[in-house]
Amino acid sequence: MAKVVRTTFLFDDQLLRLSSAGHEISPAFVEGHISRDELLRQLPDAEALICLLTDVIDGPLLDRAPRLRVVANVAVGYENIDLRAARARGIMVTNTPDVLTEATADLTLALLLATARRVVEGDGAVRAGAFPAWGLCQPLLGTDVHRCTLGIVGLGRIGTAVARRAALGFGMTVLYAGRMRNTLAEDDLGVEFAPLDRLLRESDIVTLHVPLTEETRHMIDRDALRTMKPTALLINVARGAIVDEAALVDALQKGDIAGAGIDVFEREPKVHEGLRALHERVVLTPHLGSATEATRRAMARLAVDNVLAVLSGDPPPSPVG
Ligand code: GLV
Repeated sequence: MAKVVRTTFLFDDQLLRLSSAGHEISPAFVEGHISRDELLRQLPDAEALICLLTDVIDGPLLDRAPRLRVVANVAVGYENIDLRAARARGIMVTNTPDVLTEATADLTLALLLATARRVVEGDGAVRAGAFPAWGLCQPLLGTDVHRCTLGIVGLGRIGTAVARRAALGFGMTVLYAGRMRNTLAEDDLGVEFAPLDRLLRESDIVTLHVPLTEETRHMIDRDALRTMKPTALLINVARGAIVDEAALVDALQKGDIAGAGIDVFEREPKVHEGLRALHERVVLTPHLGSATEATRRAMARLAVDNVLAVLSGDPPPSPVG
């Protein structure tokens, strides 16, 4: 029997799987966010930790968990975990890839469409009783989505799922940038590899799908935003810090780009005041990429699969690194 500490709500069926396997589940989870102090109190005899991307799992915290064998992040991104510190202590780290790919790609398209076609502004106008008169040049004219040029930065699992929707569903021309060529997607979907600079210059809509690393932090900075077309839209469902949020506000205010659909922020849950003040062609959502019931259940299931595997001495299905 091992003690499993969780910082998050887990669905009952997953708690049952852990307890049926004979493990003790800590009551650490509290509605909202467990404090670091409380987590530190729970860790000394824990063998598994199930956590969220909002939990900072670093060396000093792992030092307080001498029996820990696995950290199971319930997220695909894992920049909240110091991998080197975990490795040095012989602790396995796992994440939840694949199960959230399609839901996150769906949200990308939702933000892209809402921003381009000014859905939220339209909703606001109707609710405010300010239904604009129908006219050829009415106030809420948007940007064509079908057959536009979409620039995808990072053609991994989620980027590819977005490319499929864009190329096959909307007839878009898709450019992509990234560390590696994806020749399978080039053959299947007709997407074209382009250096980032060209992608930014030529795309009508740019969408970000890279992990947050030292290399990608502020990848979309003032210069990158100035390189984009003044009519272009930026969509970010990856990580907030890939974009310099202050520079984005500036670019939107000055008209360096036309709009943005943003699901992730540099200092979540804080959102730059300037961004919140912008309504025209700016749509903001609170990190909803994987937020569907079925996807969240699948993420919880995979995290528990990972824990159960490690605790029984088997390789976990989705190790990191
Ligand atoms: C969500 O942002 C995730 O990394 O799963």
